[in-house]
Amino acid sequence: MKKDTLLTRAGRDPAAHQGMVNTPVFRASTILFPDLESYESRGGDDFKKVRYGLLGTPTTFALEDALARMEGGHAAVVLPSGLAAITAALNACLKSGDHLLLPDSVYLPTRTFCDKELKPNGVEIEYYDPLIGAGIEKRLKPNTRAVFCEAPGSLSFEMQDIPAIAQAAHRRGALVLADNTWGTPYFFRSFEKGIDISIHAVTKYIAGHSDVVMGSITTNEANWLPVRRTVAHYGYGVSPDDCYLALRGLRTLGVRLKQQMQSALKIAGWLQSHPRVRSVLYPALEGDPGHALWKRDFTGAASLFSFVMQPASEGQVSSFINALEVFGIGSSWGGFESLAIVARIERYRTVTKWDPGGPTIRLHIGLEDPDDLIADLERGFAALSKG
Ligand SMILES: Cc1ncc(COP(=O)(O)O)c(C=O)c1O
Repeated sequence: MKKDTLLTRAGRDPAAHQGMVNTPVFRASTILFPDLESYESRGGDDFKKVRYGLLGTPTTFALEDALARMEGGHAAVVLPSGLAAITAALNACLKSGDHLLLPDSVYLPTRTFCDKELKPNGVEIEYYDPLIGAGIEKRLKPNTRAVFCEAPGSLSFEMQDIPAIAQAAHRRGALVLADNTWGTPYFFRSFEKGIDISIHAVTKYIAGHSDVVMGSITTNEANWLPVRRTVAHYGYGVSPDDCYLALRGLRTLGVRLKQQMQSALKIAGWLQSHPRVRSVLYPALEGDPGHALWKRDFTGAASLFSFVMQPASEGQVSSFINALEVFGIGSSWGGFESLAIVARIERYRTVTKWDPGGPTIRLHIGLEDPDDLIADLERGFAALSKG
């Protein structure tokens, strides 16, 4: 089945629900069992039967099944946020004394969790240059338990050579985890690229309407039970109403992504030739340093990218952002609406230097007409010139 067809079918079983097209919202805490024996076995340990509301109802399972099938993983579990999915996946893999490698471009709250929670608990944290590729080999140590990837970084858009990193990590017995929120299960087949544990902020493109906060972890077969058990040990559960909304969003993921990518390419191309712009950081653009890797490993690009302005004062940057009328000012992305923020990447880096020669602005391109977005950016540049 092609992926657009799968998007419309995965996680649905109308025959099991009186012909209803969508899996209904099943709300539950207590589940009643017909006898003591079935209560005490509670349906076994595969986490795919209803036994307690916290562990999922048919609505949760429908979403998890759809996410796993879209990405080609063994199984998926949903969590209350993308960040919860990241921290639970890391906790499932690591114990005191283990060494963890993360790209210097990693999502800031992932870095904060590693520095403020894992490190004090005895996990050795090391950051690597996101462009390291097969060079990761030299960073692997006997106690390296996991390598974390994020391709591309969601502010700097440096692309990673995930297959090369995965090959090196697997040769040394380390696991590969990745935050694939940008790639989405629609544009990136994680498990074919060597990832063992794939994490998504469902909050972004999958839910797609800026009204749900949720995360997911999809794994290969070997890592499924260890990860699922850890999620259960922490007591993470997701509301079936939110699962319903995420499934509703998932049905249109393909059309939204394709439309948003087309608009993003148009706007990125326009920015490339703007005199106030120094560079555009978007692997989908020919000439971007990550373009070849993107073309090899992805079947499309999310509509999230950055551009670097010609040198400008803080005041000019504020004038630019504050003059925007169609773009909103906000950090979550993947919804239907366009967003702009200043990406202050230089503040976070520890092993690589971020100095692109001007302020970095991150844009999320939504479903508006790209001509209106271009006019809005022109309004921003006019205010910057005055300010
Ligand atoms: C790359 C990336 N991963 C994970 C997350 C976390 O998602 P959530 O906001 O659902 O915790 C975000 C949110 O901005 C993100 O940008």
